Amino acid sequence: MSLITLAKALEEAEKGRYALGNFDCFNLEMVKGVLKAAAELQAPVIIAYGEPFIEHIDMPYFTSAVKEMAETANIPVVLHTDHYTKLENIRQAIRYGFTSVMIDSSDKPYEVNVQNTRDAVKLAHESGVSVESELGHVSGLGDIFEDDSHVFTNPETAADFVERTGIDALAVSIGNVHGIYKAEPKLRFDILEKISAMTAVPLVLHGASGIPDEDIKRAVSLGIRKVNYYTDMCAAAAEKIDAEPGRHLFDLCRTIVEECYKAAYKKIQVLK
Ligand code: 13P
Repeated sequence: MSLITLAKALEEAEKGRYALGNFDCFNLEMVKGVLKAAAELQAPVIIAYGEPFIEHIDMPYFTSAVKEMAETANIPVVLHTDHYTKLENIRQAIRYGFTSVMIDSSDKPYEVNVQNTRDAVKLAHESGVSVESELGHVSGLGDIFEDDSHVFTNPETAADFVERTGIDALAVSIGNVHGIYKAEPKLRFDILEKISAMTAVPLVLHGASGIPDEDIKRAVSLGIRKVNYYTDMCAAAAEKIDAEPGRHLFDLCRTIVEECYKAAYKKIQVLK
């Protein structure tokens, strides 16, 4: 099946009240494993490509390979940029055929976030490409900010942000952080409920590795329609490789496919 936009995929997810799995991939072994899992579960899926990944595998090669792989997978696939900070990189992604982009200015002052997001929306929507943006700030450090309300998404501000930017999806900060959690994650479902009630766009949960399945399901029941995974999938493959040293590189590549497949399969089952 050919690539579809995030807006289209989220529209279907909203109707079915499920969430799409978003898996960050920096090589084709990872993509192959994720697509195999999604195809077996007949679940639409998002392949995300982080801004630092540009250094690892060039954007045009990655894009054309994922397009080809999506054609043969019997499921809708969204090709999405994750946490892009530079408009120039977003412009390139659109040119090469990404169907969705994330602009992330969530660490900037509010008005700058609004303006940068509006710029990305203008650029992307002209080409029929969807846009996700973040409000509040999802840390990358694994720190827990339970009492530090400035990093959480403010529901009133979220309503203003969505209206002024015209985004297709909003990434929220409700106690979720990227990477390995240093303490048990405690999502603020009360905040999520308010954001859901005050905004009309599908919501996105970043930093889902390490969040218990029951909490993910509850978040989905409250309007989360896209759930981002990366750390758990990488850790699964790395642990397997470390456990059996001395193997041929060919085998290691096969292990990456297999472990990403298993990790993605488990995560997608929770979201259905
Ligand atoms: P984790 O690495 O914590 O799974 O988060 C992934 C993510 O949110 C990518 O945007």
